[in-house]
Amino acid sequence: MCGIVGYYGPKDPKEVIVNGLRALEYRGYDSAGVAILHQGEFKRVRAEGKLVHLEERLKEEVFDGHLGIGHTRWATHGLPIERNAHPHCVDGVSIVHNGIIENYAELRESLRAQAVNFQSDTDSELVAHLIAQQIKVGKNLLSAVLEVLPQLEGAYSILAVSKDQPNEMVAFKYGPPLIVGLASDATLVASDIQAIVPHTREVIFLEDQEVAHICGSQVQILDSRGEERSRTPVHIDWTQERAEKQGYPHFMLKEIFEQPRAVAQALAPHLDLENHRVKLKVELEESFLQSLERVFIVGCGTSFYAAMAGEYMIEGLARIPVEVEIASEFRYRNPILPANSLVVVISQSGETADTLAALRLVKEQGVRALSICNVPNSSIDREAQAHLYMNAGVEIGVASTKAFVSTLALLNLLAISLAKAKSGGELKAEPDLVQGLLSLPSHMETVLVHEKFFAEAAQTLKSFRGFLYMGRGINYPIALEGALKLKELAYMHAEGYAAGEMKHGPLALIDSEMAIIMLAPKDGLYEKTLSNLEEAKARGGQIISIGSGDDERLRQLSQHYLALPQTHWMMMPLLEVIPLQLLAYHVAESLGHDVDQPRNLAKSVTVE
Ligand code: F6R
Repeated sequence: MCGIVGYYGPKDPKEVIVNGLRALEYRGYDSAGVAILHQGEFKRVRAEGKLVHLEERLKEEVFDGHLGIGHTRWATHGLPIERNAHPHCVDGVSIVHNGIIENYAELRESLRAQAVNFQSDTDSELVAHLIAQQIKVGKNLLSAVLEVLPQLEGAYSILAVSKDQPNEMVAFKYGPPLIVGLASDATLVASDIQAIVPHTREVIFLEDQEVAHICGSQVQILDSRGEERSRTPVHIDWTQERAEKQGYPHFMLKEIFEQPRAVAQALAPHLDLENHRVKLKVELEESFLQSLERVFIVGCGTSFYAAMAGEYMIEGLARIPVEVEIASEFRYRNPILPANSLVVVISQSGETADTLAALRLVKEQGVRALSICNVPNSSIDREAQAHLYMNAGVEIGVASTKAFVSTLALLNLLAISLAKAKSGGELKAEPDLVQGLLSLPSHMETVLVHEKFFAEAAQTLKSFRGFLYMGRGINYPIALEGALKLKELAYMHAEGYAAGEMKHGPLALIDSEMAIIMLAPKDGLYEKTLSNLEEAKARGGQIISIGSGDDERLRQLSQHYLALPQTHWMMMPLLEVIPLQLLAYHVAESLGHDVDQPRNLAKSVTVE
């Protein structure tokens, strides 16, 4: 989603801002722009498409000022064209905006009635007009913003500058994140910590309805009425993993190969290796876990599919009822959350607007919320009462991979811990389960070897009319995840189905142009899955099956059989998803798509 970078300081703002925007590129965007002070005015340069186009235009540009703002835009209101790119500049005021102004139509009408001419189709430009109007009647930048704030509805983070105050920036937010970085001789504002850490580790995370007034290297935090608030900067312990592909052609492939390490890092803090026990490091007391009657798991997209797998694990092992829900549905259906419930919110970015809203709703109802995030200090991480960390390292590819397997590892740990709590602290299977978890990274390494198969098969696979991914039990959410990966990367028709549902409709889709990807490890539903496979084969479907160990029956039924190591059923998803990620990656790559930044998608979805 959109990225914001602002800089005041002695360095060349052009360099700092463009480097900052590059650090945010992974979030997904379709145009970019900067406005930097030069000879007392903001000089604006914008370009459609990737950052390289903006850099090309900036090559010959020089700026003599020390203040500037930049933006990568993911279109919401108006096409992704230069006219709609940020910054929006009106009468010496320049602003960049993430999010959506919901009362846009109303504000536009009222400005139009005052004979205002618009240069773009965006909701963001309206904010620049509103601030400029206030400055025209004698307000300074800060008071202008405080005047405009109550007029805005929706979710937004905004950074504003004015040519009349050449060493000031005003940042304010309600929804999407905004962070102020305090370096010894400079101040930065960004939507993502990645753009700040090369300059400083001292930061202030703005809260909703707060305003940051930056004047040189002085920063004042105010509430929306202009009352000063005392905020102490926090030190970020975030080793910036440079956005480098390390020899891989794409971040996504690098991240797929980093999965064994990601899982090991997710597990490490919670395992007692000497005794083969799980010691979950989380802020939930044993007595609370013992009395737990219901678990809810909420997330979006890939995080939601991890949640679905978690339902099978927790219900299967701990026998606690689990409800799983997409965050955008959960937040609006007035869910009934009994006392003695735990709500788990899953979000790689920790910034997904719907998941954050779901978390807030849970807290309002007085129910405990546990977050599973990859980005420490993200909004969800900060607002949850209990925390587990994916520890997957920075995920740059828009399509989530390593965060998914890290989450599955944590859900295994949660299921084991809940099962233990329910059975008075003893779980007979615990040492075996821990052994299974410890073996996962090396099993995952062996599965990565299938990369060669998909690299070669991609040419054939890309000519299929559609893909049907199927599985039963815990393998079903992995089928859904496999289909999502193909859709988002290859832009091909793919559906995930519970294999038992095949007869209830999707069987009609199957012919020789339809690829069937069947997940059929040797678990309790193996025989039933095989019957479903027979049905698909009888209709001429082209079958790639993914199972466990040497399996002659599966081999006979399939055009291709991929053998995974046999492990506990709760851990099979961590192995199964790897071939599905590789399939999507290679088909997309052979179609010439931008694998790391698929069209229309954003890494962090900070608007609903
Ligand atoms: C798919 C993907 C998305 C995200 C979803 C939630 O590959 O990446 O479906 O899983 O947007 O994002 P987080 O986990 O950051 O809340």
